[in-house]
Amino acid sequence: PEQQDALKDRIKALLVEHNAVLVAHYYTDPMIQELAEETGGCVADSLEMARFGKEHSATTLIVAGVKFMGETAKILTPHKRVLMPTLEATCSLDIGCPADEFAAFCDAHSDRTVVVYANTSAAVKARADWVVTSSIALDVVDHLDKQGEKILWAPDKHLGAYVQKQTGADVLLWDGACIVHEEFKAKGIEDLKTLYPEAAVLVHPESPQAVVDLADVVGSTSQLINAAETLPNREFIVATDQGIFYKMQQRCPDKIFHVAPTAGSGATCRSCANCPWMALNALDNLAAVFERNDNEIFVDPALAEQAMKPLARMLEFKK
Ligand code: 13P
Ligand code: SF4
Repeated sequence: PEQQDALKDRIKALLVEHNAVLVAHYYTDPMIQELAEETGGCVADSLEMARFGKEHSATTLIVAGVKFMGETAKILTPHKRVLMPTLEATCSLDIGCPADEFAAFCDAHSDRTVVVYANTSAAVKARADWVVTSSIALDVVDHLDKQGEKILWAPDKHLGAYVQKQTGADVLLWDGACIVHEEFKAKGIEDLKTLYPEAAVLVHPESPQAVVDLADVVGSTSQLINAAETLPNREFIVATDQGIFYKMQQRCPDKIFHVAPTAGSGATCRSCANCPWMALNALDNLAAVFERNDNEIFVDPALAEQAMKPLARMLEFKK
């Protein structure tokens, strides 16, 4: 703990010295979330992270999350320096959607409006008509459906199927998944519900449909945190990354949260309810963030200009 305090003090001083602000996701280590709050940064879902980074006056953004979040920040604010504790932090959805294969898929279905999830590379975003995050995916697809548009959706098939089911839109799905949420099992949640019958079930829509079907509330990380606060239940079963419990417990100190069961939970399942890439963000690489020369985000300017259009559309869609 003494060493942690020293690291935290060092990071606080460096943020001031470099006119930098810390933008952290709810899945990062609670110590990083705490630090972001203490230093005037933000802890947020991916849409709010994008907004915060764009609107903040700091000249350097330190993005604690995964690579697509840093890239989004850079695309939205090309004049700012964007650093990450490590560039190794990727996402299975991003990996599972290579830009060249995605472009071929789009070419083969050129009659469709291309909607991509924010968890993608800049090159994939550059090919999209719309970028969405989980908090506005439903609203955007519903809006497009009402205009009679057919959708090509990538990369998360579970979120895509959920959106398709809710809106009734014509949606063609790319076959991608989140390795963390895909592990949640409906049977395990049902069993847990017999133990805690009063518990409400909160589910992130990257989870498989059988899990989503058991949910009392489906939503982005921010939406799930809000649900924990506003629902009258005192107990919850939560199907998303465990990092979220820091904020849920902080907002609701008297409520009880259980992580939803996964297939191989326990020591052998590294990614179970704990994103291995989010976990690469730590106090030590955060403290070294200004010293290294291998952790700045750069996006090819031509690509960034293209990717900016669907991203700006997302930010304008719902303020
Ligand atoms: P949110 O937009 O809900 O924060 O989701 C981001 C993410 O990566 C979920 O796995
Ligand atoms: Fe990607 Fe899943 Fe990790 Fe979110 S939790 S960053 S979707 S791998």
